[in-house]
Amino acid sequence: MNVDKIRLINFRNFKDASFNFHSSLNIFIGDNAQGKTNVIESIYTLLRGNSYRAKEDSNLINWSEKESYILGEVSKNKEKFQINILLQDIDRINSLPKKAKKIIKVNKKYRQKSWLTKRFTPVIFTPEDLQIIKSSPSVRRKFLDEVIINLNPIYERYLRDYSRVLFQRNMLLKSIESKSNLEQHLTVWDQKIVEIGSMIIRYRVKTLQIMNQKVKIIHQLMTKNQEVLKLKYNSNILTSFSEDNEEIGNIFEQKLSQAKEQDLRLKVTTVGPHRDDYFIMNNLVDLGIYGSQGQQRTAVLALKMAELELLKEKDREYPPLLLDDVLSELDSERRLFLMKIIKERPLQTFITSIDIEDLTQYNINSSSKIFRIKDGTMQNDGE
Ligand SMILES: Nc1ncnc2c1ncn2[C@@H]1O[C@H](COP(=O)(O)OP(=O)(O)O)[C@@H](O)[C@H]1O
Ligand SMILES: [Mg+2]
Repeated sequence: MNVDKIRLINFRNFKDASFNFHSSLNIFIGDNAQGKTNVIESIYTLLRGNSYRAKEDSNLINWSEKESYILGEVSKNKEKFQINILLQDIDRINSLPKKAKKIIKVNKKYRQKSWLTKRFTPVIFTPEDLQIIKSSPSVRRKFLDEVIINLNPIYERYLRDYSRVLFQRNMLLKSIESKSNLEQHLTVWDQKIVEIGSMIIRYRVKTLQIMNQKVKIIHQLMTKNQEVLKLKYNSNILTSFSEDNEEIGNIFEQKLSQAKEQDLRLKVTTVGPHRDDYFIMNNLVDLGIYGSQGQQRTAVLALKMAELELLKEKDREYPPLLLDDVLSELDSERRLFLMKIIKERPLQTFITSIDIEDLTQYNINSSSKIFRIKDGTMQNDGE
Protein backbone atom coordinates (compact mmCIF):
# COMPACT_ATOMS: atom_id res chain seq x y z
CA MET A 1 0.00 0.00 0.00
CA ASN A 2 1.24 3.47 -0.94
CA VAL A 3 0.45 7.08 -0.30
CA ASP A 4 1.27 8.53 -3.72
CA LYS A 5 0.68 12.20 -3.03
CA ILE A 6 -0.79 14.62 -0.59
CA ARG A 7 -1.77 18.28 -0.68
CA LEU A 8 -2.19 20.20 2.54
CA ILE A 9 -4.23 23.39 2.63
CA ASN A 10 -4.28 25.28 5.93
CA PHE A 11 -3.26 22.11 7.72
CA ARG A 12 -1.39 23.10 10.93
CA ASN A 13 1.46 25.39 9.81
CA PHE A 14 1.16 24.43 6.10
CA LYS A 15 -0.70 27.03 4.03
CA ASP A 16 -0.53 25.09 0.80
CA ALA A 17 1.98 22.35 0.12
CA SER A 18 2.00 19.40 -2.25
CA PHE A 19 4.12 16.31 -1.86
CA ASN A 20 4.74 13.62 -4.44
CA PHE A 21 5.99 10.72 -2.41
CA HIS A 22 8.49 8.02 -3.26
CA SER A 23 7.18 4.48 -3.14
CA SER A 24 10.04 3.50 -0.89
CA LEU A 25 11.66 5.94 1.52
CA ASN A 26 10.55 9.53 2.21
CA ILE A 27 12.67 11.64 4.50
CA PHE A 28 11.61 14.93 6.05
CA ILE A 29 14.52 17.08 7.13
CA GLY A 30 14.29 20.29 9.11
CA ASP A 31 15.00 22.09 12.36
CA ASN A 32 12.72 21.90 15.37
CA ALA A 33 9.16 23.20 15.06
CA GLN A 34 9.22 23.53 11.26
CA GLY A 35 6.43 21.08 10.42
CA LYS A 36 8.02 17.62 10.08
CA THR A 37 5.70 15.97 12.57
CA ASN A 38 2.79 17.85 11.02
CA VAL A 39 3.45 16.10 7.69
CA ILE A 40 3.55 12.70 9.40
CA GLU A 41 0.32 13.62 11.17
CA SER A 42 -1.33 14.67 7.90
CA ILE A 43 -0.51 11.32 6.27
CA TYR A 44 -1.94 9.49 9.26
CA THR A 45 -5.06 11.67 9.20
CA LEU A 46 -5.55 11.10 5.48
CA LEU A 47 -5.55 7.34 6.04
CA ARG A 48 -7.49 7.15 9.32
CA GLY A 49 -9.77 10.17 9.24
CA ASN A 50 -8.35 11.52 12.49
CA SER A 51 -5.06 12.50 14.05
CA TYR A 52 -3.18 10.35 16.56
CA ARG A 53 -2.25 13.36 18.70
CA ALA A 54 -4.82 16.15 18.33
CA LYS A 55 -7.51 16.36 20.99
CA GLU A 56 -9.91 17.98 18.54
CA ASP A 57 -10.06 17.91 14.76
CA SER A 58 -10.11 21.70 14.83
CA ASN A 59 -6.54 21.71 16.22
CA LEU A 60 -5.47 20.62 12.76
CA ILE A 61 -6.84 23.73 11.07
CA ASN A 62 -4.33 26.53 10.70
CA TRP A 63 -4.77 29.02 13.54
CA SER A 64 -5.73 31.93 11.33
CA GLU A 65 -8.13 29.96 9.11
CA LYS A 66 -11.58 28.42 9.40
CA GLU A 67 -11.13 25.40 7.20
CA SER A 68 -8.49 22.97 6.13
CA TYR A 69 -8.15 20.39 3.37
CA ILE A 70 -6.12 17.22 3.27
CA LEU A 71 -6.19 15.87 -0.28
CA GLY A 72 -4.41 12.68 -1.17
CA GLU A 73 -4.02 9.73 -3.44
CA VAL A 74 -3.53 6.28 -2.06
CA SER A 75 -3.11 2.94 -3.77
CA LYS A 76 -3.80 -0.41 -2.21
CA ASN A 77 -3.69 -3.78 -3.97
CA LYS A 78 -3.58 -1.95 -7.32
CA GLU A 79 -6.72 0.04 -6.53
CA LYS A 80 -6.52 3.86 -6.46
CA PHE A 81 -8.27 5.97 -3.88
CA GLN A 82 -8.64 9.72 -4.03
CA ILE A 83 -9.25 10.87 -0.49
CA ASN A 84 -10.43 14.39 0.37
CA ILE A 85 -10.89 15.48 3.94
CA LEU A 86 -12.35 18.86 4.78
CA LEU A 87 -12.25 20.21 8.31
CA GLN A 88 -14.39 23.22 9.05
CA ASP A 89 -14.74 25.42 12.12
CA ILE A 90 -16.73 28.36 10.85
CA ASP A 91 -17.46 30.12 14.14
CA ARG A 92 -13.87 29.94 15.18
CA ILE A 93 -12.69 32.80 17.32
CA ASN A 94 -8.93 33.25 17.57
CA SER A 95 -7.35 29.86 18.07
CA LEU A 96 -9.89 28.59 20.58
CA PRO A 97 -10.76 25.13 19.36
CA LYS A 98 -14.36 24.10 18.89
CA LYS A 99 -15.72 20.94 17.41
CA ALA A 100 -14.93 20.99 13.73
CA LYS A 101 -17.16 19.67 11.03
CA LYS A 102 -15.51 16.90 9.06
CA ILE A 103 -16.38 15.84 5.54
CA ILE A 104 -14.67 12.81 4.04
CA LYS A 105 -14.90 11.92 0.38
CA VAL A 106 -13.29 8.93 -1.27
CA ASN A 107 -13.37 8.83 -5.06
CA LYS A 108 -15.92 11.65 -4.89
CA LYS A 109 -18.33 9.68 -2.65
CA TYR A 110 -19.16 10.77 0.90
CA ARG A 111 -17.77 8.29 3.42
CA GLN A 112 -17.66 7.79 7.16
CA LYS A 113 -14.37 7.71 9.01
CA SER A 114 -14.86 3.97 9.57
CA TRP A 115 -14.68 3.44 5.82
CA LEU A 116 -11.07 4.59 5.99
CA THR A 117 -10.12 2.85 9.24
CA LYS A 118 -11.34 -0.50 7.91
CA ARG A 119 -9.09 -0.28 4.88
CA PHE A 120 -6.03 1.71 5.78
CA THR A 121 -3.85 0.77 8.72
CA PRO A 122 -0.55 2.64 8.76
CA VAL A 123 1.93 1.69 11.45
CA ILE A 124 3.23 4.71 13.31
CA PHE A 125 6.07 5.16 15.77
CA THR A 126 6.35 8.37 17.76
CA PRO A 127 8.44 9.11 20.85
CA GLU A 128 5.25 8.92 22.94
CA ASP A 129 4.97 5.23 22.09
CA LEU A 130 7.61 4.61 24.71
CA GLN A 131 4.67 4.78 27.09
CA ILE A 132 3.66 1.32 25.87
CA ILE A 133 6.55 0.06 27.95
CA LYS A 134 6.78 2.65 30.69
CA SER A 135 3.20 3.47 31.42
CA SER A 136 0.16 1.76 32.94
CA PRO A 137 -1.46 -1.53 31.86
CA SER A 138 -4.25 0.39 30.14
CA VAL A 139 -1.76 1.87 27.64
CA ARG A 140 -0.39 -1.60 26.90
CA ARG A 141 -3.87 -3.06 26.56
CA LYS A 142 -4.80 -0.26 24.17
CA PHE A 143 -1.82 -1.00 21.93
CA LEU A 144 -2.54 -4.74 21.86
CA ASP A 145 -6.27 -4.21 21.33
CA GLU A 146 -5.58 -1.89 18.40
CA VAL A 147 -3.29 -4.45 16.81
CA ILE A 148 -6.02 -7.08 17.21
CA ILE A 149 -8.70 -4.78 15.75
CA ASN A 150 -6.55 -4.09 12.71
CA LEU A 151 -6.10 -7.82 12.17
CA ASN A 152 -9.66 -8.86 13.11
CA PRO A 153 -12.15 -5.97 12.82
CA ILE A 154 -14.88 -7.97 14.64
CA TYR A 155 -12.83 -7.72 17.83
CA GLU A 156 -13.79 -4.06 18.14
CA ARG A 157 -17.40 -5.17 18.64
CA TYR A 158 -16.41 -7.66 21.33
CA LEU A 159 -14.52 -4.91 23.16
CA ARG A 160 -17.49 -2.57 22.93
CA ASP A 161 -19.89 -5.26 24.12
CA TYR A 162 -17.57 -6.14 26.97
CA SER A 163 -17.30 -2.59 28.23
CA ARG A 164 -21.08 -2.20 28.03
CA VAL A 165 -21.66 -5.39 30.03
CA LEU A 166 -18.96 -4.39 32.51
CA PHE A 167 -20.61 -1.01 32.96
CA GLN A 168 -24.00 -2.66 33.59
CA ARG A 169 -22.55 -5.10 36.10
CA ASN A 170 -20.80 -2.29 37.95
CA MET A 171 -24.03 -0.26 38.02
CA LEU A 172 -25.82 -3.23 39.50
CA LEU A 173 -23.11 -3.73 42.11
CA LYS A 174 -23.61 -0.12 43.14
CA SER A 175 -27.38 -0.47 43.56
CA ILE A 176 -27.41 -3.82 45.39
CA GLU A 177 -26.54 -2.21 48.73
CA SER A 178 -29.83 -0.35 48.84
CA LYS A 179 -31.91 -3.07 47.20
CA SER A 180 -30.53 -6.46 48.09
CA ASN A 181 -33.20 -8.26 46.01
CA LEU A 182 -31.24 -7.07 42.98
CA GLU A 183 -28.45 -9.50 43.76
CA GLN A 184 -30.16 -12.29 41.83
CA HIS A 185 -29.71 -10.29 38.61
CA LEU A 186 -25.97 -10.52 38.96
CA THR A 187 -25.87 -14.01 37.43
CA VAL A 188 -27.22 -12.66 34.12
CA TRP A 189 -24.36 -10.19 33.83
CA ASP A 190 -21.84 -12.74 35.11
CA GLN A 191 -22.75 -15.05 32.27
CA LYS A 192 -22.36 -12.32 29.68
CA ILE A 193 -19.13 -10.99 31.08
CA VAL A 194 -17.63 -14.49 31.08
CA GLU A 195 -18.83 -15.19 27.57
CA ILE A 196 -17.45 -12.03 25.95
CA GLY A 197 -14.47 -11.69 28.29
CA SER A 198 -13.23 -15.17 27.43
CA MET A 199 -13.21 -14.31 23.75
CA ILE A 200 -11.21 -11.18 24.45
CA ILE A 201 -8.65 -13.11 26.48
CA ARG A 202 -8.35 -15.74 23.79
CA TYR A 203 -7.74 -13.12 21.08
CA ARG A 204 -5.11 -11.43 23.21
CA VAL A 205 -3.25 -14.62 24.09
CA LYS A 206 -3.26 -15.75 20.49
CA THR A 207 -2.14 -12.40 19.11
CA LEU A 208 0.70 -12.15 21.62
CA GLN A 209 1.78 -15.60 20.53
CA ILE A 210 1.99 -14.69 16.86
CA MET A 211 3.51 -11.29 17.68
CA ASN A 212 6.20 -13.05 19.68
CA GLN A 213 7.41 -14.92 16.63
CA LYS A 214 7.78 -11.67 14.64
CA VAL A 215 9.14 -9.60 17.51
CA LYS A 216 11.85 -12.10 18.24
CA ILE A 217 13.29 -12.08 14.72
CA ILE A 218 13.26 -8.29 14.30
CA HIS A 219 14.57 -7.61 17.77
CA GLN A 220 17.44 -10.02 17.31
CA LEU A 221 18.36 -8.28 14.07
CA MET A 222 18.43 -4.93 15.85
CA THR A 223 20.47 -6.16 18.79
CA LYS A 224 22.85 -8.45 16.88
CA ASN A 225 21.45 -11.53 18.64
CA GLN A 226 22.45 -10.11 22.02
CA GLU A 227 18.98 -9.72 23.39
CA VAL A 228 15.75 -11.68 23.28
CA LEU A 229 12.44 -9.88 23.53
CA LYS A 230 9.35 -11.71 24.68
CA LEU A 231 5.77 -10.71 25.38
CA LYS A 232 3.98 -12.53 28.16
CA TYR A 233 0.29 -12.18 28.91
CA ASN A 234 -0.28 -11.35 32.54
CA SER A 235 -3.84 -12.35 33.26
CA ASN A 236 -5.68 -12.03 36.54
CA ILE A 237 -7.73 -15.01 35.45
CA LEU A 238 -5.46 -17.48 33.73
CA THR A 239 -2.26 -18.92 35.07
CA SER A 240 -1.53 -21.18 32.14
CA PHE A 241 -2.39 -20.09 28.64
CA SER A 242 -4.76 -22.53 27.18
CA GLU A 243 -6.33 -21.51 23.90
CA ASP A 244 -9.45 -23.46 24.67
CA ASN A 245 -12.33 -21.05 24.94
CA GLU A 246 -14.41 -23.29 27.14
CA GLU A 247 -11.62 -23.77 29.62
CA ILE A 248 -10.97 -20.03 29.82
CA GLY A 249 -14.70 -19.55 30.40
CA ASN A 250 -14.75 -22.05 33.28
CA ILE A 251 -11.80 -20.48 35.03
CA PHE A 252 -13.21 -16.99 34.52
CA GLU A 253 -16.54 -18.09 35.99
CA GLN A 254 -14.78 -19.54 39.02
CA LYS A 255 -12.68 -16.42 39.60
CA LEU A 256 -15.72 -14.22 39.25
CA SER A 257 -17.67 -16.14 41.86
CA GLN A 258 -14.65 -16.18 44.18
CA ALA A 259 -14.45 -12.40 43.83
CA LYS A 260 -18.16 -11.84 44.36
CA GLU A 261 -17.96 -10.68 47.96
CA GLN A 262 -15.09 -8.38 47.16
CA ASP A 263 -16.95 -6.99 44.15
CA LEU A 264 -20.04 -6.32 46.28
CA ARG A 265 -17.95 -4.59 48.88
CA LEU A 266 -15.96 -2.45 46.43
CA LYS A 267 -18.96 -2.04 44.08
CA VAL A 268 -16.83 -2.73 41.06
CA THR A 269 -15.85 -5.78 38.99
CA THR A 270 -12.36 -6.69 40.14
CA VAL A 271 -11.53 -9.59 37.81
CA GLY A 272 -11.61 -9.81 34.03
CA PRO A 273 -9.66 -8.85 30.93
CA HIS A 274 -10.22 -5.16 31.70
CA ARG A 275 -7.59 -5.62 34.43
CA ASP A 276 -5.16 -7.72 32.38
CA ASP A 277 -1.68 -6.71 31.29
CA TYR A 278 1.33 -8.19 29.53
CA PHE A 279 5.01 -8.17 30.39
CA ILE A 280 7.53 -6.97 27.85
CA MET A 281 10.60 -8.99 28.76
CA ASN A 282 14.15 -8.51 27.54
CA ASN A 283 16.45 -11.42 28.32
CA LEU A 284 13.88 -12.50 30.91
CA VAL A 285 13.72 -9.20 32.80
CA ASP A 286 10.83 -6.74 32.69
CA LEU A 287 11.84 -3.92 30.34
CA GLY A 288 9.44 -1.45 31.92
CA ILE A 289 11.28 -1.77 35.22
CA TYR A 290 14.86 -2.59 34.30
CA GLY A 291 15.32 -1.54 30.67
CA SER A 292 17.53 1.34 29.58
CA GLN A 293 15.94 4.05 27.44
CA GLY A 294 17.64 2.63 24.37
CA GLN A 295 16.45 -0.89 25.09
CA GLN A 296 12.92 0.36 25.63
CA ARG A 297 12.98 2.24 22.33
CA THR A 298 14.33 -0.74 20.48
CA ALA A 299 11.63 -2.92 21.99
CA VAL A 300 8.81 -0.56 21.00
CA LEU A 301 10.22 -0.43 17.48
CA ALA A 302 10.31 -4.21 17.37
CA LEU A 303 6.66 -4.28 18.51
CA LYS A 304 5.69 -1.87 15.77
CA MET A 305 7.66 -3.76 13.12
CA ALA A 306 5.97 -6.96 14.27
CA GLU A 307 2.60 -5.27 13.80
CA LEU A 308 3.74 -4.24 10.33
CA GLU A 309 4.63 -7.83 9.41
CA LEU A 310 1.28 -9.14 10.67
CA LEU A 311 -0.62 -6.53 8.66
CA LYS A 312 1.40 -7.45 5.63
CA GLU A 313 0.45 -11.10 6.01
CA LYS A 314 -3.21 -10.12 6.24
CA ASP A 315 -3.28 -7.70 3.28
CA ARG A 316 -0.50 -9.31 1.23
CA GLU A 317 1.25 -5.94 1.07
CA TYR A 318 2.91 -3.69 3.63
CA PRO A 319 1.01 -0.74 5.07
CA PRO A 320 2.92 2.57 5.18
CA LEU A 321 5.35 2.97 8.05
CA LEU A 322 5.50 6.38 9.75
CA LEU A 323 8.54 7.02 11.93
CA ASP A 324 8.70 10.31 13.79
CA ASP A 325 11.91 11.27 15.59
CA VAL A 326 13.09 7.72 15.77
CA LEU A 327 16.65 8.10 14.50
CA SER A 328 17.87 10.62 17.04
CA GLU A 329 16.88 8.26 19.80
CA LEU A 330 18.85 5.21 18.69
CA ASP A 331 22.59 4.62 18.68
CA SER A 332 24.29 4.43 15.30
CA GLU A 333 24.35 0.66 15.14
CA ARG A 334 20.66 0.26 15.93
CA ARG A 335 19.87 3.02 13.44
CA LEU A 336 21.80 1.15 10.80
CA PHE A 337 19.89 -2.05 11.47
CA LEU A 338 16.57 -0.24 11.41
CA MET A 339 17.38 1.32 8.05
CA LYS A 340 18.52 -2.05 6.76
CA ILE A 341 15.26 -3.70 7.83
CA ILE A 342 13.30 -0.94 6.07
CA LYS A 343 15.41 -1.07 2.92
CA GLU A 344 15.10 -4.80 2.52
CA ARG A 345 11.31 -4.75 2.49
CA PRO A 346 8.96 -3.55 -0.25
CA LEU A 347 7.65 -0.93 2.07
CA GLN A 348 6.79 2.77 1.93
CA THR A 349 8.34 4.62 4.84
CA PHE A 350 8.06 8.21 6.05
CA ILE A 351 10.75 9.30 8.44
CA THR A 352 11.69 12.60 10.06
CA SER A 353 15.18 13.75 10.95
CA ILE A 354 16.94 16.92 12.01
CA ASP A 355 19.89 16.58 9.68
CA ILE A 356 20.90 14.72 6.61
CA GLU A 357 24.37 13.58 7.67
CA ASP A 358 22.48 11.08 9.71
CA LEU A 359 21.25 9.39 6.62
CA THR A 360 24.00 9.49 4.00
CA GLN A 361 25.74 6.50 5.57
CA TYR A 362 22.77 4.28 4.83
CA ASN A 363 23.28 4.34 1.10
CA ILE A 364 19.64 4.95 0.32
CA ASN A 365 19.88 7.54 -2.46
CA SER A 366 18.40 5.49 -5.24
CA SER A 367 15.29 4.52 -3.33
CA SER A 368 14.46 7.69 -1.49
CA LYS A 369 13.23 11.25 -1.67
CA ILE A 370 14.29 13.97 0.72
CA PHE A 371 11.93 16.82 1.59
CA ARG A 372 13.34 19.87 3.37
CA ILE A 373 10.76 21.41 5.65
CA LYS A 374 11.02 24.99 6.84
CA ASP A 375 8.35 27.04 8.57
CA GLY A 376 5.44 25.14 7.06
CA THR A 377 6.80 25.08 3.55
CA MET A 378 8.63 22.54 1.49
CA GLN A 379 11.92 23.95 0.31
CA ASN A 380 12.37 21.54 -2.56
CA ASP A 381 10.20 19.13 -4.47
CA GLY A 382 11.97 16.11 -3.07
CA GLU A 383 15.52 15.26 -4.11
N1 LIG B 1 -3.17 24.63 14.07
C1 LIG B 1 -1.97 25.19 13.81
N2 LIG B 1 -1.89 26.31 13.05
C2 LIG B 1 -0.70 26.86 12.78
N3 LIG B 1 0.47 26.39 13.20
C3 LIG B 1 0.45 25.28 13.96
C4 LIG B 1 -0.75 24.62 14.31
N4 LIG B 1 -0.46 23.55 15.06
C5 LIG B 1 0.88 23.55 15.19
N5 LIG B 1 1.44 24.58 14.53
C6 LIG B 1 2.86 24.93 14.41
O1 LIG B 1 3.58 23.83 13.98
C7 LIG B 1 4.82 23.84 14.66
C8 LIG B 1 5.32 22.47 14.99
O2 LIG B 1 5.40 21.68 13.92
P1 LIG B 1 5.93 20.22 14.12
O3 LIG B 1 5.58 19.50 12.89
O4 LIG B 1 5.46 19.64 15.40
O5 LIG B 1 7.50 20.49 14.23
P2 LIG B 1 8.74 19.56 13.98
O6 LIG B 1 9.32 19.98 12.67
O7 LIG B 1 9.66 19.85 15.12
O8 LIG B 1 8.24 18.16 13.97
C9 LIG B 1 4.57 24.50 15.98
O9 LIG B 1 5.69 25.24 16.37
C10 LIG B 1 3.40 25.38 15.73
O10 LIG B 1 3.84 26.69 15.60
MG1 LIG C 1 8.51 16.71 15.45
